[in-house]
Amino acid sequence: MSYSNYFNPELETMPREQLRELQLERLQKTVRQCVKAPFYEQKFKEMGISPEDIKSLDDLQKLPFTTKDDLREFYPWGLTAVPLKECVRLHSSSGTTGNPTVVTHTQKDLDEWANAVARCLWMVGCRPEDVFQNSAGYGMFTAGLGFQYGAERVGMLTVPAAAGNTLRQIKFIKDFGTTVVHAIPSYASRIYEVMREQGIDPRKDTRLRVLCIGAEPHSEEQRQRIEENFGVKAYNSYGISEMMGPGVAFECPEQNGNHIWEDYFIVEIIDPVTLQPSKPGEFGELVITTINREAMPLLRYRTRDLTRLLPGECPCGRTHARIDRLRGRSDDMIILKGVNIFPIQIEKILMNFKELSTDYLITLETIEPQGDFMTVEVEVKEFNDDYQQIQGLTREITRQLKDEILITPKVKLVPKGTLAVSDEKKAVRVKDLRKLF
Ligand code: COA
Ligand code: ZN
Repeated sequence: MSYSNYFNPELETMPREQLRELQLERLQKTVRQCVKAPFYEQKFKEMGISPEDIKSLDDLQKLPFTTKDDLREFYPWGLTAVPLKECVRLHSSSGTTGNPTVVTHTQKDLDEWANAVARCLWMVGCRPEDVFQNSAGYGMFTAGLGFQYGAERVGMLTVPAAAGNTLRQIKFIKDFGTTVVHAIPSYASRIYEVMREQGIDPRKDTRLRVLCIGAEPHSEEQRQRIEENFGVKAYNSYGISEMMGPGVAFECPEQNGNHIWEDYFIVEIIDPVTLQPSKPGEFGELVITTINREAMPLLRYRTRDLTRLLPGECPCGRTHARIDRLRGRSDDMIILKGVNIFPIQIEKILMNFKELSTDYLITLETIEPQGDFMTVEVEVKEFNDDYQQIQGLTREITRQLKDEILITPKVKLVPKGTLAVSDEKKAVRVKDLRKLF
């Protein structure tokens, strides 16, 4: 292993006892900081606790959980713990049907974020001589700017290609000698299919050697297929925008779980129903406390991602815990094309149309070689054969849905009574036919 600013053995291989001491010190600072935000000020008052109650890491259990709903309810600034003039950026979730979530950052937060991403990229072998191409959406998607600043920090030549336009992505890969690509797994497969259509063999005709894949659940088989197709190593990336985005956890060259950076975060795995800690090695919901953030520290944030901590030590020598491949969610959030979508967003749009009944069905599927798709079938109260009218309505529903969820679903209007949305007594609204786990 070569040493640099972005492989920091002192931090990455720190003995666990020492890591825990560092965590306690940072947790105490975080708790003192977070009560400056209206949400935590109120929460601490209600619970009758104060920052001084945190004397050991076990005292974490005394602290409140934080949820996405809290972020929505206290939209937009209720969890920001510094004056707004000290913030230099925010990221926000999509959607206009309810309050989105907002995450604020100071310049120091952005620097620490870039350092975390740089650490991940360095870990998988990225070096200044590499050319890094990012196919994530820029703008509000945290994987855009998140990878951008991390890759620049490593010193790589960075190509902010952004999402879509696959032919251009491939041209860039060839012309600029791209060696590292960040893409969500289904999009990596799409790039490969288009390369094949173009008669391009990524093993012979490109300099690609590393892919960073994340933001979408995928199986080990999917990863292996991507690695074989491109002739590269594909490393799993775990990010969550409420924490910052990419850089939270990443696979090391051993490819056996994602190291979650415990100098940035305290990790818990809980039973999502009882909210009690899961037994060591058991699957549960990942809960994260930020301990290295100024603008918006979050205590015990319920990510809703289901995973477990892998037992044992990693042969790479890093002492930071490893989370297993994700096994799903403890809520109904859909992840499609790297975009997070809640079925309620779709329902709310559909219910704006008086022509539609309340029955609808969302189907998610992979159609190769095009990629992943969402179909929204919805029943029309009075279906008639007026093709123009049906087409106009379909177009308008599609437009409004795209505005809300950022992807373009295929909308199908069907006569009343056609959708078998009831499975025994419970309405089935989402059918996921993709092979994710
Ligand atoms: N990343 C990059 N490009 C993607 C993509 C993804 N996750 N999913 C699809 N695309 C490509 C498609 O292949 C298509 O390429 P083409 O121009 O060669 O035909 C193009 O984007 C448009 O896709 P399409 O499926 O027709 O459009 P859409 O309206 O349904 O989706 C996207 C819109 C692609 C812009 C939207 O899914 C997106 O921004 N995804 C990226 C999300 C992201 O970066 N997440 C990271 C997590 S923070
Ligand atoms: Zn490791």
